[in-house]
Amino acid sequence: MLDSKAYYNRLLEYKEEIRKRTDFVPEVAIVLGSGLGEFAKNIDVKAVIDYGDLEGFPVSTAPGHTGQFIFGTLKGVNVICMKGRIHYYEGYDMSEVVLPLRLMYVLGARTVIITNAVGCMNENFSVGSFMVSRDCIASFVPSPLIGPNIDELGPRFPDMSEIYSADLRNKVMEIGREKGIEVNEGVFIQLTGPQYETASEIRMYKAMGADCCGMSSGVEAITAAHMGMKVCGISCITNMCTGISKTKLSGEEVIEIANKVSGDFEKLVTELVEKIGK
Ligand code: HPA
Repeated sequence: MLDSKAYYNRLLEYKEEIRKRTDFVPEVAIVLGSGLGEFAKNIDVKAVIDYGDLEGFPVSTAPGHTGQFIFGTLKGVNVICMKGRIHYYEGYDMSEVVLPLRLMYVLGARTVIITNAVGCMNENFSVGSFMVSRDCIASFVPSPLIGPNIDELGPRFPDMSEIYSADLRNKVMEIGREKGIEVNEGVFIQLTGPQYETASEIRMYKAMGADCCGMSSGVEAITAAHMGMKVCGISCITNMCTGISKTKLSGEEVIEIANKVSGDFEKLVTELVEKIGK
């Protein structure tokens, strides 16, 4: 069973270790998904901490996920970026998967922008466009809150009726309209991966009301909502899902499309941070 006291103490120790190196207090956390690997270049960087510098911290094994916290200002707002996320399919316990997110909260962030690459099962949306999450289905992955509750972080039974902030979602929709970037609202479903879905699974998820799917992010949103953070989920649609796509899916294709539209992705996130700071 998770030793929630030891886990929380670990978070405080990591905080102390980081504070020795920087006194920077972030307001907004940004989880960088595929396609946003170079996002940090827009930031006036104040400090960089490698996950590997924190003893026992989980390290990301997924391609393109470096494993660094980047502290700095973006459009005058103090941000912390998680460059490299931990995925459940890498074999970590869910409590480790969400540890970096909890650390960003402990360091001071009270808003989080969670980005990722997704497959799309809504045929009205197109590859290369974006979805901002209205809600999520995470019933197919273990809850990140299983185990003794960490009372310092949030309640045992947190409400999830507004897991994603309507205010932030409306801001993203507005930015899309202003900048001529296609953004739709929709329901995200998190699956474990690492295999892509079968066509029958996609039909089932679609019937359940999902628009897009991915292998991360839902549990991060739950963890953030548990701590009372304001959450925004922005997804880059890199492919249509199995059974809808005319071609076979591959990780290479996902990264290729995500990189192709990274300029628009960066614009959406940067403008959102600016609006949050106003
Ligand atoms: N399925 C799951 N995760 C994904 C996909 C997909 O089709 N595309 C990008 N991430």
